[in-house]
Amino acid sequence: MKKLYYPTIIEQKQIAQGIFSMKLQCDEIAGTALPGQFINLYCKEHELLLPRPISICETDKQKGTVMLVYAVVGRGTESFSRLQKGDMIKVLGPLGNGFKIEKGVNIHMLVGGGIGVPPLVELSKHLKGEVYAFLGFAHNPILVGKLKNYGAKILVATEDGNVGFKGNVIELLDKKDIKGDMIYSCGPKPMLKAVSEWAKGRGIRAQVSMEERMACGIGVCMGCTRKIKKKGEKDWQNRKVCTDGPVFWSEEVIWDE
Ligand SMILES: Cc1cc2nc3c(=O)[nH]c(=O)nc-3n(C[C@H](O)[C@H](O)[C@H](O)COP(=O)(O)OP(=O)(O)OC[C@H]3O[C@@H](n4cnc5c(N)ncnc54)[C@H](O)[C@@H]3O)c2cc1C
Ligand code: FES
Repeated sequence: MKKLYYPTIIEQKQIAQGIFSMKLQCDEIAGTALPGQFINLYCKEHELLLPRPISICETDKQKGTVMLVYAVVGRGTESFSRLQKGDMIKVLGPLGNGFKIEKGVNIHMLVGGGIGVPPLVELSKHLKGEVYAFLGFAHNPILVGKLKNYGAKILVATEDGNVGFKGNVIELLDKKDIKGDMIYSCGPKPMLKAVSEWAKGRGIRAQVSMEERMACGIGVCMGCTRKIKKKGEKDWQNRKVCTDGPVFWSEEVIWDE
């Protein structure tokens, strides 16, 4: 049974144009969350009934804190951006399955696009071996310093060439041609599809964190289903991104729905 909590916001700051980081004091979520899981955030405004799913960017189990990084795209996220240190917020979580961390994987490749980068931060802290972070942005990179501090080798692409390689993250993957043992990816759907094809072409296993419009976030409304194949099987079935995912093996996802 997922639980509701009412944590206090202990930090809220703008880290880039339209992008905020919010730190919550929530021992329960910090103590149990797995990398790649998300939480549902509720708005104060009663007319904005549905919670908004936001990935857990980082937790500190000792301090009991949970950090989120979110982009302001609509009324819900705009409402979050107006909250201040000391305010309380209603949250549900942790939700979803998270990334699988397998033994015997020595070279890890994180591939993040834009606001898909946050869940890769917590993940990077749990990986043993070499970690390469391929990060793609339109203009302004985010969370690069954090990933670097946790030991990842950083490779940045920006579409306009503002920082690092000029182009997208797939072109950067092609250019560097590093062959890892596992890819963990989060970002926009077209990027995830391209990462999936890139990984398949090189025989690298890949996990993708899918973003789907969500209402309940707990497997009840069926609003977030996607066609997913079981490994080794031809037939697909509808799986819920909120509870069966958001992380799936890339070869299980039917990309052209
Ligand atoms: C598993 C998961 C993790 C996510 N993690 C992050 C993150 O770390 N940082 C971040 O900035 N964004 C993240 N998102 C996207 C974020 O949930 C949406 O940007 C947000 O819900 C938009 O709400 P809004 O009210 O501002 O926009 P509106 O477009 O006005 O939202 C209206 C409704 O649609 C739903 N909705 C809208 N866009 C999305 C979307 N992309 N995914 C799911 N539901 C959506 C909202 O929950 C709301 O009910 C994540 C989405 C999912 C599914
Ligand atoms: S959002 Fe309701 S079932 Fe997934």
